[in-house]
Amino acid sequence: MLNKPYLTGHFTPVPDEITAVDLSISGKLPPELSGLYVRNGHNPKPGITPSHWFRGSGMLHGVRLADGRAQWYRNRWVKTPALDGAPLVRQDGSIDLTASVAGTHIIEHGGRLLALQEANLPFAVTPELETLGPFDFHGKLTTAMTAHPKQDPETGLLHFFSYSPFEPHLTYFEASPDGHIVRSEPVPGAGPGLMHDFAITAGKAVFLDPPVVFDPAETSGIPYRWHDDRPARIGVLDRLGDSGVTWIEVDQKTVLHVVNACDLPDGKVLLEGTAYDQAAWETSWKWWIGAPGHPNAPTSGAVVTRWLLDPVAGTALEEPIDDLATDFPTVDDRLTGRRSSISYHVAFPGAGLDEFALVKLNTATGERRLFHPGRGRYAGEAVFVPALGGTAEDDGYLLTIVSDLVADASRLLVLNAQDLSTSASIHLPRRVPGGIHGSWIPSPPMAAGSNPAGAPDEAFVQPG
Ligand SMILES: [Fe+2]
Repeated sequence: MLNKPYLTGHFTPVPDEITAVDLSISGKLPPELSGLYVRNGHNPKPGITPSHWFRGSGMLHGVRLADGRAQWYRNRWVKTPALDGAPLVRQDGSIDLTASVAGTHIIEHGGRLLALQEANLPFAVTPELETLGPFDFHGKLTTAMTAHPKQDPETGLLHFFSYSPFEPHLTYFEASPDGHIVRSEPVPGAGPGLMHDFAITAGKAVFLDPPVVFDPAETSGIPYRWHDDRPARIGVLDRLGDSGVTWIEVDQKTVLHVVNACDLPDGKVLLEGTAYDQAAWETSWKWWIGAPGHPNAPTSGAVVTRWLLDPVAGTALEEPIDDLATDFPTVDDRLTGRRSSISYHVAFPGAGLDEFALVKLNTATGERRLFHPGRGRYAGEAVFVPALGGTAEDDGYLLTIVSDLVADASRLLVLNAQDLSTSASIHLPRRVPGGIHGSWIPSPPMAAGSNPAGAPDEAFVQPG
């Protein structure tokens, strides 16, 4: 029953898992791109119609690049109990943290690949995308984990949080690269909001407490709704000092995704993210659940917004950065929590655009540049890969999977991040449905080119 918008068009699930080797390439693949591009997304099994886009089982699509070749493509479901029908809430009302659809994101930390979905434990997978099982940080994570953890580029620590409709509503964690939790603490003052993303700076963690809060009357499978009587607040946790958390009330919007954040010399915090007002949020939600009157294509309606937060005074200055509705922001991961000017986004049909596009924003110069994948094509989240020896912030490549409805095919595009020209186009063996988030996982230098197509590469990951 494929009548839901998130199961049709660009988002039509694929029915099976395949493997292909030695993919053909148009253009020249930069030989320095040695590693795995992998992207997650919701792809329910044939015959399954989830009640919400985000309740569909997660499927990973990976492309292994080395030595100027695209060695293989694989797509694999994340094999969780939910894939076999296990419910998130057991009959006795308890939550099964392993019943994850694991379809939101995939990251690498300390050599471990984790498929993520925010209501559950992460699931570890191999570099060949085979599922190893739930990962609870050696028995120490007993709550869900956000799908948007942040790795500090200097310390290597993984920062993340758990949110819950029940007290404590928000818990903050830090994990070392060997997979041990080294910090775990409830964050006082948080509400029962749907907290999809957060930010770190060099010294702070920044939480987003939205007006979208737990509401059991919402029956789509994700029990959260916008409540007019709930303010939007941003919490700044002084994670290196002893100032605790400061909650700052801001304009009533929901920030689905963070672009980046950083500390300023005067103690303030700069935060950028995609902000939805109530109308934009409810329009998106309609598409996500296939409610009557939903738009034909997924929309964002979100405006990239900047907040200047003063945790001492408890105040915020807010300003929109751009007027084009976008989402799925990315930056150079080496600048996570540090000052950055350049970000990459997905723009959706409507709001001045006929088709999907990728957007590059440069807040230092005010430049906005668009990449149009072409009529009938959808370019998903663009992942930045730095160029070897690059110096400028945008000296690198963007990897994005383009779904082509007309050709019923997909390609992995490698764009030059500076001018958005196409460096290479990798022909994938099937149409890849539009998805959610992904990562570039570079190979260790010694491993470059050492993994023959189809052979396991166990050195790449340390499960357990
Ligand atoms: Fe997300």
